[in-house]
Amino acid sequence: MKHRWTEAAQPKPLKLLCGSLAAAVTLIFAPVHAASPGDPLAAAGRWEGATNGSASTPPMGWSSWNAFRTEIDEAKVLGAAQTLVDTGLAKLGYRQVNIDDGWWVKRRTGDGRLQIRTGIFPSAATGGPDETSFKPFTDKIHAMGLKAGIYTDIGRNACSQAYDLHSPNLPTGTTAEREVGLEGFVTQDINLYFKEWGFDYIKIDACGLADFLPGSDLVKKQNYRAQEPLIERGSINRTDIKAVRERYEEVAAALQAARPGNDYVLSICAWGMANVRSWGKDVGNLWRTSADITPSWTSMLHNFDSAAKRALYAGPGHWNDPDILHIGHGEFDVANPVEVRSHFSLWAMINAPLLVSYDLRNGPASFLEVIGNPDVVALNQDKAGHQGVITYDSDDAQIIVKTLGNGERKAVALFNRGASPAPVTLLAGHLKLSDSAPVTLRDLWSKKSTTFTGEKEIVLAPHETLVFEATGKRQLENGVYLSEIPGSINVAVDGTRQPQLDPTVHRMIDPWSSTRSGGSRPQYAGWGGAQADTTPYGQSLQVAGQVFESGIGVLSNSRLQVKNDAGYAELTASVGVDDSTENTRQPVRFYVYGDGKLLAESAPLAFGAKAPRLKANIRGVKVVELVVRGTKSDDALPVVATWGDAQLTRAAGAGI
Ligand code: GAL
Repeated sequence: MKHRWTEAAQPKPLKLLCGSLAAAVTLIFAPVHAASPGDPLAAAGRWEGATNGSASTPPMGWSSWNAFRTEIDEAKVLGAAQTLVDTGLAKLGYRQVNIDDGWWVKRRTGDGRLQIRTGIFPSAATGGPDETSFKPFTDKIHAMGLKAGIYTDIGRNACSQAYDLHSPNLPTGTTAEREVGLEGFVTQDINLYFKEWGFDYIKIDACGLADFLPGSDLVKKQNYRAQEPLIERGSINRTDIKAVRERYEEVAAALQAARPGNDYVLSICAWGMANVRSWGKDVGNLWRTSADITPSWTSMLHNFDSAAKRALYAGPGHWNDPDILHIGHGEFDVANPVEVRSHFSLWAMINAPLLVSYDLRNGPASFLEVIGNPDVVALNQDKAGHQGVITYDSDDAQIIVKTLGNGERKAVALFNRGASPAPVTLLAGHLKLSDSAPVTLRDLWSKKSTTFTGEKEIVLAPHETLVFEATGKRQLENGVYLSEIPGSINVAVDGTRQPQLDPTVHRMIDPWSSTRSGGSRPQYAGWGGAQADTTPYGQSLQVAGQVFESGIGVLSNSRLQVKNDAGYAELTASVGVDDSTENTRQPVRFYVYGDGKLLAESAPLAFGAKAPRLKANIRGVKVVELVVRGTKSDDALPVVATWGDAQLTRAAGAGI
């Protein structure tokens, strides 16, 4: 959603000298920290990150989709559930058992009640030919100490009705009877799923808004009701972002009403489209960031990339979702143990949901060793919820660092994306640890420990990911860099104007169209969103020639919120226009608020001005807000702005 400046926030012209440019510049600024109504940059004074639903750590469990597509049945699902219990996976946290597409037979004429396909879910045949219920099924799942998940679509029709036309488990009947999605039935269906049938989790797909186009062969041949697309898969500009968001908000409200105790999980499955990467966190508990994963290495890269650079948008209760794990199939089968570990390690590091999806009843022991690795699971489930940050980035190798707890420990993954061995030099500095003190690395796969000081050379095998827990002397002994604690940050306004597609996502050969299409051009907006340790466009942070290894990169007209649960006393940051900005003409101004009160502000800073150090006393403050204001003009490009070395420290005056 775009936020526009309002009349109330009208700027005032002023003249001043700017840093090393030392030139008189006529600047136009919004009034200083005026909390004008409707001004999205006005400090809220309270945490605005979503608190609904219950996914304080990333969901874990099993989903039927990659294992069986629509060809599910009760024996397969309960078999998976039983295996979770018998193998001890449930105790490790794998408690979610999710039925995906394929369970329904029709929507009953008259009262609109959904009917379950009792041929495949026999326990659902609870009373006469027309009366079906999942309650016996969810009772069994709950009695096993597990949680049950269901699947639907936000439109009228589901994805299988467009893409799995051969399926034996498609809804049947008249056009209306086959409209099994939520459209027109939100409250009724949500109440049915959550109040009557007792589900705990819902995944809501979006094909109904994208694929049933007027005049299309699909609609004609299958006799569906046509739907003007709200999501145009090939064009973010022709997608009605607001309408899509409102559809999901309506469901979120119905869920709240059905489960006021917050004991539900809402999974948004809009494949990264409709700019969900910016609003998913405010509406649901997890949101897909890309198209469906297929069991190939390059698809895994593609899906990983769609979520990996969005660390600041995830945190406890809201998670980037690069899709269900594809362990067990294709290039992640039992003959590819290196790829299996990599896939799992990467999902764990970026706080992706750990939903496995192979036939658990017949899985090999080697998979259990991977998905049951308690150390890797523990880093994914770390309560602080800090998604790993890519601290070294290339198309060949990446280094991802994840803060555990308040930073006493780190996890680090060294990831070889390529098919040749990759030499990697891990620096203590990558971990934000001192390079003059020993760093201990514990390999979470081999369980062996090593120690190094300064740096360590490691050669990664093709496609290998090594994961270590790292301990050493912190660079910041009495505090944390903000980029170490993405899970404590809420990007309230990110300053992006028009959603732009992310060019850094790996472009695989499209699994569905091969090379027949115009090439795999991901439609995932999000380019320009706030970043940890880089600019919004992936450049290193630098102001007037001063490089910052740590910091937060934003655009002008942005507002971040930082939770100060750990009770830090001071926030400091070196602020300025980043040297990489394309808009070098317009100055910006930085503000720090504590619980809504202005604590510190910069002078207007132009491109080339040295970065002043802002200090704010945040003792007793619960929510710190970091605002960058630029000029109002909608025609100008946003300015790239840097909160360099932004940090929270315990004692005022203490620092790096
Ligand atoms: C897709 C979704 C998959 C699966 C499938 C069911 O849109 O991304 O994860 O749910 O629909 O038909």
